[in-house]
Amino acid sequence: MAGVLVTGGAGFVGSHLVDALVERGHRVRVLDSLEPQVHFGRRPDYLNERAEFIHASLSDTDALRRALEGVEIVFHQAAVVGVGQSMYEIEHYVKKNTLDGAVLLQVLVNERERFKVRKLIVASSMSIYGEGAYSCHCCGEFFPRLRAEEQFARHEWELGCPAGHGGATPVPTKESKPLFPTSIYAITKRDHEEMFLCIGKAYGMPTVALRYFNIYGSRQALTNPYTGVAAIFSGQLLDGKVPLVFEDGGQMRDFVHVSDIVQANLLAMEKSDADYEAVNVGTGQPVTINHVAETLIRELRPAAVPNVVGRYRVGDIRHCFPDIGKARDLLGYKPMVTFEDGMKNLVSWVRDQRLDEAQADRLSSMRRDLSLRTLTR
Ligand code: UD1
Repeated sequence: MAGVLVTGGAGFVGSHLVDALVERGHRVRVLDSLEPQVHFGRRPDYLNERAEFIHASLSDTDALRRALEGVEIVFHQAAVVGVGQSMYEIEHYVKKNTLDGAVLLQVLVNERERFKVRKLIVASSMSIYGEGAYSCHCCGEFFPRLRAEEQFARHEWELGCPAGHGGATPVPTKESKPLFPTSIYAITKRDHEEMFLCIGKAYGMPTVALRYFNIYGSRQALTNPYTGVAAIFSGQLLDGKVPLVFEDGGQMRDFVHVSDIVQANLLAMEKSDADYEAVNVGTGQPVTINHVAETLIRELRPAAVPNVVGRYRVGDIRHCFPDIGKARDLLGYKPMVTFEDGMKNLVSWVRDQRLDEAQADRLSSMRRDLSLRTLTR
């Protein structure tokens, strides 16, 4: 049984990972700053009692040293995660993600006599790809950049072959695809991945970067307006509203249940075949945003009709879903939760969530802030 540190262990993914590690008998410690936007500064009720909790930011190096004492394995899950927000709180995102990650690495490599970490697992993100991979019947596979503003303005949502051969088919994205991050958040996630893999390799500290696709499940912050679309839609439906679907709803993503993300993390800890590698973690089964809306409507308000507004979110990609062959081959990863079962699980959790008055006020002020910044057109 190992001493394990989970940074961001009070968060959505981190807390589920903590539960699984405790369950397996590991000695688990959590270091978490309890970001006000997610936790309102309070320790969440779901946090596992059998894990030791240190309330501090990674930049507090004294607390970080206490957190690392006796630890052999570090899961670095701590991050601020609002893609849209990262485009105007640039300094904050670079500090909390890139720099705080650097602080952790610096302590680890400069105090190797004291801290003997033998495995590092870092949370990366599909956002670093930008658009996913596409294929043209004449040119084969290609890797487009974001759609041009004029294309969005014409409401021409799909991408075409750049050589003029007409339409293009989205295909599974492999880890080898060139990275075109299109937000500050994505840049900081690429920083995480590259910094951790680089330092891991240089110091012989086995490191794995897991590229998470669109995660959903219980404990996803409903009070955070920058959360993922499945949480947004379920919140809207419970609130008596209808989901607002951008573009034409035909855009595809891979929605992966948080328990499969936990599975990939545990495998990365236990196996060494993916050491020093970046690995996609998803289901390999893309779905459209319309399908997400329809599924949640069926579960929550069967009479509702999604509002497909034809508006668009600046900087959005059209399609991105992973090839998960590398995770399967190197880690033995096998997604266990189907989209239908996972959505049922999300819905049953969302139904039990209540916001107190202070949280509701806070949420509406954050929503106002976001819409003032006109991130949709
Ligand atoms: C982005 C990030 C991803 C991050 C996720 C959640 C990129 C490429 N990826 O993913 O790393 O995990 O945000 O923070 O930046 N949509 C609606 N109505 C809404 C909200 C969203 O139709 O109210 C649509 C969006 O236009 C998009 C899709 O749903 O086409 C998915 O959106 P979202 O859940 O925010 O995730 P991504 O943009 O894929």
